[in-house]
Amino acid sequence: MCKITIFLGLFLTAGCAPSEEWWRDSFIYQIYPRSFKDSNGDGVGDINGITSKLEHLVDLNVSAFWISPFFKSPMSDFGYDISNFTDIDPIFGTLDDFSKLITKAKSLNLKVILDFVPNHSSNKHPWFQKSIQKIPPYDNYYVWRNATFVNGTRHPPNNWLSVTRGSAWTWNDVRQQYYLHQFSYFQPDLNFRSSALNQEMKDVLTFWTKRGVDGFRVDAIPQAFEDARFLDEPVKPNTGLPPDDPNTLEHIYTKNQKETYELVRSWRNHLDAMNGTRKIILTESYITLDELNQSMKYYEYGADIAFNFMFVTGFNNRSTPTDFKDGIEKWLAHMPRGNYSSNWVVDNHDNNRVSARFGKRRADQLTMLSAVLPGVGVVYYGDEIGMEDTWLSYNETVDPIGCSAGPTGYNITSRDPARTPFQWDNSTSAGFSTNKTTWLRVNPNYPILNLAAQKTVSHSHYSIFKKLVALKKKLVIKTGSVEVISVADRVLGIVRRVSGSVPVVLLINFSNGYVIFDASYQLKIPPRMTVYVSNFDSSLPEGVTINTPSLVLAPAASVILM
Ligand code: GLC
Repeated sequence: MCKITIFLGLFLTAGCAPSEEWWRDSFIYQIYPRSFKDSNGDGVGDINGITSKLEHLVDLNVSAFWISPFFKSPMSDFGYDISNFTDIDPIFGTLDDFSKLITKAKSLNLKVILDFVPNHSSNKHPWFQKSIQKIPPYDNYYVWRNATFVNGTRHPPNNWLSVTRGSAWTWNDVRQQYYLHQFSYFQPDLNFRSSALNQEMKDVLTFWTKRGVDGFRVDAIPQAFEDARFLDEPVKPNTGLPPDDPNTLEHIYTKNQKETYELVRSWRNHLDAMNGTRKIILTESYITLDELNQSMKYYEYGADIAFNFMFVTGFNNRSTPTDFKDGIEKWLAHMPRGNYSSNWVVDNHDNNRVSARFGKRRADQLTMLSAVLPGVGVVYYGDEIGMEDTWLSYNETVDPIGCSAGPTGYNITSRDPARTPFQWDNSTSAGFSTNKTTWLRVNPNYPILNLAAQKTVSHSHYSIFKKLVALKKKLVIKTGSVEVISVADRVLGIVRRVSGSVPVVLLINFSNGYVIFDASYQLKIPPRMTVYVSNFDSSLPEGVTINTPSLVLAPAASVILM
């Protein structure tokens, strides 16, 4: 049972009995399949490429990996626009290739998690084509509404806006109705009020579960249901944003509806009814710190991990130790009572990489936090070597969100910079592909920044990462109390304690100057402690025993003591 208790607002106990469930207190690694490893030289990563590199994940000692979609798709959103939920796109391989991946992963004791995209299909999906033709039962598989008319002019049924900007409705001339798309026009929303569609999507879960997967990351879950009255959403006052920006609306009718939580519960029950080990559910829902309850509810309705994106979208390089302390304590205090695990997402395919968000010198800090805090750390391919965003010109941009922002706005919205190929070594295309041309250009820093190079030195992002994964498995991290401390708003400290053993202490210097302080007094830690791991800026080399009453932290230093 995992119980979080707050004492005087200062001290949190994770109170979890150590659990044998494989996914708790572990690291889960995200693979973006186009960019991990290309096995056939076409410049795009594929399933056989992933299979050939599973030893890397074993070496890192992560428990599981989740793979962004590799299903049949026109690739308008690079796989998040699916035209067949139970087949693999030829660019990535075949179902046989997938079986080989599963077999090898099982032999290496790695768990495999797939991306389940229930909110929408591609507009090229045969279901949508039949829906346009009003062929039962597909007529009802999508959300169709009549136009409204103002002075004889046709308008969408209401003011709802898509995540990608502009109306969430597109007119279809054949069916003479609008269809809903909470994302791009080529991603029509599926209608879970249709029992036939509901069953189809359960069958998708069955299909992949029978093929041996260990869980599902559920894409864009908040958008699964909309309020059936189709009322206008309230406009937020004074946002100063253009009127087609979705952040101008309060999404009270299009996100996190009651039925959405019940849908997750129905998938939980469906997966539990199948034989074998528990299949985990990870839900993708972006919320602000004021909306934590909306995410936490996914836990209560059957998610094992409701992604916590606080480190990705909640904070940036201007955030202070106090901001982090408040956010972390808030998350822990809001965790539902019961046997639930926290989680800390470091990076993903939809956002700039951590080194771009916080600065190169601070690249490892968030992985350190995700290791020391209770629960699951969720990392993205390349985090283990400190991969950086790749600058790409507008002409090189392929992400639809980047392209639609045009030459002046693409560099803010494009997700391509964080999706460039994994940098394995200093050979052609960083060892990602034998092809010199890859779907996105390899970062030019690859001759220096690559896995092979980092393996040859004793201290690197890679060596730090491996130590962090090992740390996650320690009893004090699994079961210890949690204290989050801001020292003069310059240093963030996390202390994990269990009685009878040395605490684990993470210290992060947020400032650009040296900080000298009495950590022993401020954090109530022993006067002499050993440096377990430290980042490059630290003046505290690993393995050395130091005096905590006169601790010196170099600018941007991060260090874990025990
Ligand atoms: C999720 C995915 C993102 C995709 C969107 C639409 O947010 O992470 O990559 O574009 O859903 O499927």
